[in-house]
Amino acid sequence: MEASFFLLFLLTFCSSIHSSFSTTTTDLITTNQFIIDGETIVSSSGTFELGFFNPNGSSNRYIGIWYKQILPHEQTVVWVANREKPLTNTSSVILKVTEPGILALLNDKNEIIWSTNTSRSVQNPVAVLLDSGNLVVKDANDGSPENFL
Ligand SMILES: *[C@@H]1O[C@H](CO)[C@@H](O)[C@H](O)[C@H]1NC(C)=O
Ligand SMILES: *[C@@H]1O[C@H](CO)[C@@H](O)[C@H](O)[C@H]1NC(C)=O
Ligand SMILES: *[C@@H]1O[C@H](CO)[C@@H](O)[C@H](O)[C@H]1NC(C)=O
Repeated sequence: MEASFFLLFLLTFCSSIHSSFSTTTTDLITTNQFIIDGETIVSSSGTFELGFFNPNGSSNRYIGIWYKQILPHEQTVVWVANREKPLTNTSSVILKVTEPGILALLNDKNEIIWSTNTSRSVQNPVAVLLDSGNLVVKDANDGSPENFL
């Protein structure tokens, strides 16, 4: 009896480690793979992380990029998306890529809170957090920096 409880606990523990691991291993945001508050994307070598954060002593929530290796209380934010549009309630807010190649922060009514813009469109737009700390919108199948949107 005790052994089977322990096994169940172990399995639950392992699957929770697995799921928390797999949610932090992408460096991509796509048209159907978006992030919500509490989720992040990480650059391929683990240098930078993008997600929602609160600056010191503020109740405002922002989307930003910070150095992943630094301890959370020493968080060094290197870029802020919605600096002019702080959020107080992120419960239905998502960050996703929309056609034709725009990275947008949307509310539950699908209204744009903040977005990038582009003069060109691509077939399959994705946003990638690079190890240089740059966040770029590009075609999923085109790695040439000169074609980044
Ligand atoms: C937050 O406060 C600490 C201590 O006052 C400071 O060292 C740190 O730089 C601050 N972080 C930001 C993002 O302002
Ligand atoms: C936050 O927003 C959600 C949906 O937009 C709403 O249901 C909820 O009541 C809001 N919470 C607060 C504290 O305003
Ligand atoms: C986005 O860019 C297009 C083309 O450059 C421009 O016409 C449009 O006004 C821009 N939209 C916003 C919201 O800045």
